Amino acid sequence: MEFKELIKVRRSTRDYDKDKKVTKEQLEKVIALAQMAPTWKNSQNARYYCVIGDQLEAFREKALPSFNQKNSAGAALVVTTYVKGLAGYGPNGPADDIEAVWGGYDLGLQNAYFVLAAKEEGLDTLIMGLRDTDYIRQELAIPEDEVIAAVIAVGYRASEPKLGGRKDLGEIAKFF
Ligand SMILES: Cc1cc2nc3c(=O)[nH]c(=O)nc-3n(C[C@H](O)[C@H](O)[C@H](O)COP(=O)(O)O)c2cc1C
Repeated sequence: MEFKELIKVRRSTRDYDKDKKVTKEQLEKVIALAQMAPTWKNSQNARYYCVIGDQLEAFREKALPSFNQKNSAGAALVVTTYVKGLAGYGPNGPADDIEAVWGGYDLGLQNAYFVLAAKEEGLDTLIMGLRDTDYIRQELAIPEDEVIAAVIAVGYRASEPKLGGRKDLGEIAKFF
């Protein structure tokens, strides 16, 4: 798909086909493309925990609040984390006054690539920031040095999502 078109057709999807399942091979392809995103000193701090097996429904029920359970029904779930202390740090410690931000920045870039690569693969996504991190960490044995960020639902849309409005460019961009 043409890149501009891909950006326009990607939408947060809250209605998935319950009969079409996402495979490990598809997710591997998407994650490999997400990995091409730029990262601080190429530190590649993002990690992906893909829940696609028999435990998926139990995991969805415990990891997500009810509206995100309902909206992601039928989709696989990918927990995205980043390893602390890589992005934003040099050999002598923090690189600047916002060192803690850079890890999330890098992961966000990768997640943006992830949702676009998924769309190119014919898959729809929903980034979910509302989730139970204590349960997720324990269930997936996520190490303490990783920050759990979004859970991304990945599946096939069952209906056309609405496009969320966007602010006028004049409100968000200044030119000097
Ligand atoms: C960091 C982040 C957290 C989000 N958390 C949720 C969530 O918990 N549940 C949900 O339904 N949508 C969630 N969204 C999706 C946004 O609501 C959505 O991206 C926004 O409304 C714009 O719509 P669009 O993605 O279709 O362009 C989240 C998006 C981001 C980037």
